[in-house]
Amino acid sequence: MTFNSKMPYNELPLLPPKAELETKAVLKQAIAANRVLANLRGLAARIPNQSMLIQSVVLQEARLSSEIENIVTTNDELYRAAADPDRKTDPQTKEVLRYRQALNTGFQALKHRPLSTNLFIEIVQEIKAVEIGIRKTTGTILKNAAGEIVYTPPEGESVIRDKLSNLEQFIHADDDLDPLVKMAIIHYQFEAIHPFEDGNGRTGRIINILYLVEQGLLDIPVLFLSRYIIANKADYYEGLRKVTEEQEWEQWILFMLRALENTAQQTFEQVTRILDLMNQVQEKVQLHAPNIYSKDLIEVIFHHPYTKIQFLVEASIAKRQTASIYLQTLSNLGILRSYKQGREVYYINDALFDELVR
Ligand SMILES: Nc1ncnc2c1ncn2[C@@H]1O[C@H](COP(=O)(O)OP(=O)(O)O)[C@@H](O)[C@H]1O
Ligand SMILES: [Mg+2]
Repeated sequence: MTFNSKMPYNELPLLPPKAELETKAVLKQAIAANRVLANLRGLAARIPNQSMLIQSVVLQEARLSSEIENIVTTNDELYRAAADPDRKTDPQTKEVLRYRQALNTGFQALKHRPLSTNLFIEIVQEIKAVEIGIRKTTGTILKNAAGEIVYTPPEGESVIRDKLSNLEQFIHADDDLDPLVKMAIIHYQFEAIHPFEDGNGRTGRIINILYLVEQGLLDIPVLFLSRYIIANKADYYEGLRKVTEEQEWEQWILFMLRALENTAQQTFEQVTRILDLMNQVQEKVQLHAPNIYSKDLIEVIFHHPYTKIQFLVEASIAKRQTASIYLQTLSNLGILRSYKQGREVYYINDALFDELVR
């Protein structure tokens, strides 16, 4: 049967693919990717109070993964909104914040249960903030930039559910495939099933990270595949298409492995720089303002680039009045920059901000 991009692809083959997957080139690239990923995992284990610092780093992946889907926000707006949940912001920024929330939800869920169709649904619902489920209606199509239909995913709820349950089995199958190779296959298959009316790209990219966590290759959800995907967007789309049209698995798997190697390395370097920065700031405070120094204080000003007096109060570092003096001291030392907007005063960690967005 020849593939027709305008017809629902109900013949999407089940997994595992009937093709040679671990070619010489793939195995070689898998070794390189595994090595860098192991370094990243080791480094992440050294981050103090992991959850805090990681939250502002993860926001970059949320922003870029959303940007692939033309949901665009600025770093300024994003970090300000992240620091201030009550602040009025635009729908796109909210959607990016929900992406991070969905990733966190998935990450927490993995502590109690495995990756599953239900978890995929919970993730997409959290991103979209609607009660979206498996597609029941027809008419979901994928177009390229020129407006041509490049792919029509399978239709019919039971067809979609069967393919998802096959995907679940593949995810947890006890085979000899390298987990990173499997991640590439899982991502193709999820996107090809395209179970939802919208949010498939983002949910699929969250699943990538969660799968690595589930496999024990990462302990915390740091990895910025989307940065590489944005820089190589045409290859990403072409890779997906060629698996469907020509069963061209090798090219696709190599693309994803390169994305892994490249972004694991970049994330490693970024986290290293932020940890160095944290150390420098710590030494500076200990030297010039020892009376206000505490580990918690340093952690709070590295939680988000935007700090408020209230955050110090919430972290039980000091009462309002004293907290305000602390932050003023830090801005006198040039560590933070105070910035007044309306009645709110923010203290901006510019050095952290620059590291996050570079
Ligand atoms: N030819 C294709 N076959 C399968 N999946 C594709 C193809 N082209 C793009 N995709 C996937 O579809 C995603 C977009 O689907 P969509 O549901 O709109 O995601 P989101 O709402 O997160 O925008 C892309 O990010 C990509 O992962
Ligand atoms: Mg979309």
